[in-house]
Amino acid sequence: MTGPRKRTAILISGRGSNMMSLVEAAQRPGYPAEIVAVISNRPDAAGLAWAASQGLPTRTIDHRAFASREAFEEKLHAALLDAGTEIVCCAGFMRLLTGGFIQRWHDRQLNIHPSLLPAFPGLDTHARALARGVRIAGCTVHVMRLEMDTGPIIAQAAVPVLPGDTPETLGSRVLAAEHRLY
Ligand code: GRF
Repeated sequence: MTGPRKRTAILISGRGSNMMSLVEAAQRPGYPAEIVAVISNRPDAAGLAWAASQGLPTRTIDHRAFASREAFEEKLHAALLDAGTEIVCCAGFMRLLTGGFIQRWHDRQLNIHPSLLPAFPGLDTHARALARGVRIAGCTVHVMRLEMDTGPIIAQAAVPVLPGDTPETLGSRVLAAEHRLY
């Protein structure tokens, strides 16, 4: 790799397994990003304790403490700037962001979604994919744009849908692919 590693903050809301994969990847020499902050909008996010145990700066910005989406995002933006963030990676971050915030991080904010976008944006992706009878499922890393789960696609990985799959079995096969992809 040439040039300095991009200062990357990760936004989570829960388990944080994609965040863990990113953190572990960033420990490898030559990885193009260093993780400078892990920020959760939920104080009980399991991923926070893990990130802290890795010696990473962690922060909770509880969206329920703010009167508006914009007020929450103002605080989030300030925390990202505090950490010297260049790139924001959403990893299971379950808050919708306003156009104002998305614009501020235009082309510098990434997301991972557990489907082959543009198919199945939004929630319950695996149940909907199974209901539609798709034979191939997967995940997408994309640059974030105003509309949820849209934006230029950076990478995708495909996995098969197997006979007898449930949303849970398919979801864990996709999640393993997410961890490699992000
Ligand atoms: C992942 O499937 C991710 O694609 C989706 O939410 C899930 C988060 O899982 N946006 P984790 O918190 O990374 O374990």
